[in-house]
Amino acid sequence: MFDRRNFIRSATAIAAGMTMPLPVTAASRKVAPSDTLNAALIGCRNMGWGDLNGILQHKEVKCRALCDVDKKILNSRAEELNKTYGYRPDVYGDYRQLLERKDIDVVVIGTPDHWHCLQFVDACRAGKDIYVEKPVANSIAECDAMVAAAGKYNRIVQVGQQQRSSRHFIEMVEYLRSGKLGKIGRVHVWANFGYAAMNPPIPDSPVPEGVDFDMWLGPAPQTGFNSYRFHGSWRMFWNYGGGLITDWGVHLLDMGLWGMDATTLPLKVAATGGKYLFPDGAHETFDAMSVTYQFENFILEWENNAGVETGPYGKNYGVLFRGVNGTLVADREDWSVYPEKDKLPEITVKTDHREHQSHIANFLQCVKTRNPNTACTIENGSLCAKYAQLGNIAAKVSETLVYDDKSGTFNRREADRYLRPAYRSPWKFPQR
Ligand SMILES: NC(=O)c1ccc[n+]([C@@H]2O[C@H](COP(=O)([O-])OP(=O)(O)OC[C@H]3O[C@@H](n4cnc5c(N)ncnc54)[C@H](O)[C@@H]3O)[C@@H](O)[C@H]2O)c1
Repeated sequence: MFDRRNFIRSATAIAAGMTMPLPVTAASRKVAPSDTLNAALIGCRNMGWGDLNGILQHKEVKCRALCDVDKKILNSRAEELNKTYGYRPDVYGDYRQLLERKDIDVVVIGTPDHWHCLQFVDACRAGKDIYVEKPVANSIAECDAMVAAAGKYNRIVQVGQQQRSSRHFIEMVEYLRSGKLGKIGRVHVWANFGYAAMNPPIPDSPVPEGVDFDMWLGPAPQTGFNSYRFHGSWRMFWNYGGGLITDWGVHLLDMGLWGMDATTLPLKVAATGGKYLFPDGAHETFDAMSVTYQFENFILEWENNAGVETGPYGKNYGVLFRGVNGTLVADREDWSVYPEKDKLPEITVKTDHREHQSHIANFLQCVKTRNPNTACTIENGSLCAKYAQLGNIAAKVSETLVYDDKSGTFNRREADRYLRPAYRSPWKFPQR
């Protein structure tokens, strides 16, 4: 039997946190005394669908509702569930209607990054527990709003940085904490992926049938439909994503920060980036980029190259810890230690490829036991998303930046304008 949720909240708290016109009753539901957890998915095309399928491996969970702004995707996913599990979930084009459902316990948010904050805060208000994809948001201010909402409404949250549940990464962190590498002065993180380089722009075209494009844009600026800025490739456009550093970067920077036990923002950040490799490409985000984060006693570096699929130690992406006794190099497949002379034994530890299943199992377990300390909390996710944003902002303003997380300001005024996106009416930035 699952523990009952505590849905008691003050009316003022609910009003103050209100972002969308959801009825207050949605936030005051009681969980039925059964072992079944009811799940719903918002954003069904790719990763959200993968997350939902992972969740449904757990027999006690049923998918009651799907939401997507593309009817083709929505209906085909509903049909797939029907074929696999023998029941058809209800389908929605507006996530607010889905969140009104009192029987839904758990919501997966698999939409593009510019939507995460609003949908997450509204789901918190509605009393749902949430598996939200990474990066948690597309701006620093949105990260803060999400951390605040999860705390205020006592939600259980797992961020989709599944490497935190990877056995070999957990063992890597244990190895690093053992001190065997000696002093570590540099952590290098890189991601070189072909998909981040785009062909030259194509003209806007009519909105495909069955797509509610206004709802896809949501709080982002009004614009014509262009298939390059839509499904999947929205990542390379500032209004919806942040390029490789917010896409792969949050996963890999997370490993660098976790390995170094760094839980706060850096002292300084300096960055350069541009469309150097594919200047004619449709993408707006940096296809070549370097970021240096300075700490009291080490340097964290990020590097990405779009259109390139090779990299250090034969890995096109990875994280490297350079200690005086040896260098540890890791990716999702394995981690290895390359000793300095004979100071350490050579080691290679391989993945068991179970990180996604473990991450989901950890989330469901935390939901059932009301344990807020999931493998990747909203605070963990927020920290990494902020690192990624800091890199992009420093490169945009071409300045070395100091960010004060308490006041929410940079040492350079021109950088402050990137902290919080202007939401397009009628969408309103969540109030704390
Ligand atoms: N954890 C991982 O390893 C991993 C891997 C891939 C993607 N992701 C993350 O998952 C998220 C989704 O990425 P993707 O590759 O699946 O993108 P996608 O473009 O393939 O899918 C997004 C889906 O959301 C739908 N959508 C957009 N706005 C919506 C709205 N307002 N309401 C309902 N549905 C809406 C789209 O129609 C589409 O079906 C991103 O945040 C991405 O960073 C994580």
